[in-house]
Amino acid sequence: MCGIVGFAGDQNAAPILLEGLKLLEYRGYDSAGIAVMNEGKIALTKSQGKIANLCEKTQDGTTMPGFIGIGHTRWATHGAPNDTNAHPHLSNDGKFAVVHNGIIENYMALREELTAKGFVFKSETDTEVIVNLLELYYKGNLKAAVMKTAARLEGSYALGVACADFPDRLFAVREASPLIIGVGVGENHFASDVTAIISHTRNVIYLEDGEFAELTADNVTVYDCMGNAIEPQVTRISWDIEAAEKGGYEHFMLKEIMEQPRAIKATIEPRVKDGRIVLDDFDMTEEQFKNINKILITACGSSYYVACAAKYMIEQLCRIPVTTELASELRYCDPIIDERTLLIVLSQSGETADTIAALKECKARGARTLAIVNVVGSTIAKLADNVLYTWAGPEIAVATTKAYTTQMAVMFMFALYAADKLGKLDNAEYDRLVCELLLLPGVVQRAIDLSSDIPELAKKYYKTRSLFFIGRNVDYAICLEGSLKMKEISYIHSEAYAAGELKHGPIALVDDKTLLIAAACYENLFEKTLSNIKEVKARGAEVLGIALEGNRAMSAEADEVLYVPRTEPMFNAIAEIIPMQLLSYYVAKENGCDIDKPKNLAKSVTVE
Ligand code: F6R
Repeated sequence: MCGIVGFAGDQNAAPILLEGLKLLEYRGYDSAGIAVMNEGKIALTKSQGKIANLCEKTQDGTTMPGFIGIGHTRWATHGAPNDTNAHPHLSNDGKFAVVHNGIIENYMALREELTAKGFVFKSETDTEVIVNLLELYYKGNLKAAVMKTAARLEGSYALGVACADFPDRLFAVREASPLIIGVGVGENHFASDVTAIISHTRNVIYLEDGEFAELTADNVTVYDCMGNAIEPQVTRISWDIEAAEKGGYEHFMLKEIMEQPRAIKATIEPRVKDGRIVLDDFDMTEEQFKNINKILITACGSSYYVACAAKYMIEQLCRIPVTTELASELRYCDPIIDERTLLIVLSQSGETADTIAALKECKARGARTLAIVNVVGSTIAKLADNVLYTWAGPEIAVATTKAYTTQMAVMFMFALYAADKLGKLDNAEYDRLVCELLLLPGVVQRAIDLSSDIPELAKKYYKTRSLFFIGRNVDYAICLEGSLKMKEISYIHSEAYAAGELKHGPIALVDDKTLLIAAACYENLFEKTLSNIKEVKARGAEVLGIALEGNRAMSAEADEVLYVPRTEPMFNAIAEIIPMQLLSYYVAKENGCDIDKPKNLAKSVTVE
């Protein structure tokens, strides 16, 4: 979703803003623009489409001199993706420029009010009301105008504000939309996320909702919503720019798939001490655990599919009922929740609007909350009672891979930890499962190694226009994710079905043009899924089976088979997704798709 950058320093701002915007491309966007202050005026360049167009228009920023500026990548919400609707937006008098992420819910009322006062609107965006409110409220005091404007806005916003009367400074404002300040030496930055500024500074301030900051080249002042200066906490970022670069891979997605053994190791190993799982950041006592009578897991997209798989394992180990609910549904379904509910929230970005809303709703109803998040300091990490980080490192490809598997690894650890606290595991079984857990990075590496035929298989299947993924229980949960991966990066229509459901309707669609991917990695259910495979084979479908290494029965039925390594069955899920990720990747590649930035998608979905 939209990306914001701002720079105040002693070098030309435009090239730095363009570089920052390029690093935010992964968030998804359809137009971009920059504004730079020079000689008491604001110069503006905007362009539909890729940042390359903006670079061309500005000759890589060289045609826009000036040391202070703001930039934006827009993911259209209000109005088509064109030059007029692209940010930054200027006030009617040309004195103010604003970039905005989020949605102003009362913009129609504000637009009418401003129109009645004589303001003219050029774009269809909600953002243009902000910049004209600044003009309306500005009486020589920029900070006061920013505060008055923010007080009129309802909804979510991260704002970057420039004013021609104050050519040495910028304002950055945050309300329910991510915004960080990068504190440098002789230069300061703001951005939607750390990726945009990490090559300039590792010292970061995470603004809280309602806070705003004033930046010059030499100084950053953070204010609370009443305008009082506050002492911000500066966090040092531990990863560096290489982690956000392709490192020789053709796409970030492939790099991130290959990084999974390392990411899973980084997530698990530090939390196993002397053979015991230690969740330092999770301070629930045994008594509090025993008081929990229900676990509710919520998330969106792939993170939700982790929940679907984790449910089986938590219930199996802990014998506590676990329900899963999509965050976008949970917030409106009047959920039955009280102090005895443990709410687990999963999110890579920690900024997904629906997940944040669901978390707030459940907290308000008394639930204890645990967040599993990849981005340190993100909104969800701050809102939850406890947070366990997935140490996956920055995930740049829009389609998640390593964040998904590291979330799964944390859920495994949580299940073991909870089962132990609840006294559901004897010592020998606990020790055995912890040993199996520590083997997972190697298991995932083996799953990658076993996938070497996939580029060839992709050549066979890339023209398929419609496919099904089927499986039972955890196999089905993994199919949900496999199917999402396929559709989002290769644009091939794909559906996941619980294998037993096929004959209750979808089998009507199966014919000799259908590709069916059947996951059957649980031996107790293998025969059942095999009979579903026979049903579709009888109707002419092509079947690609996914089975455990050494399983011969699958190759007797399926046209092609991909194998995953044998491991503790409870942990199969993490290896089983690997061939599905790789198949989606190579099918998308054969189809010439924009793999890291699929059309219409955004990395961080900060609007409802
Ligand atoms: C799919 C994908 C999305 C996200 C979803 C939630 O590959 O990445 O479905 O999983 O938008 O995002 P987070 O995990 O950031 O809350």
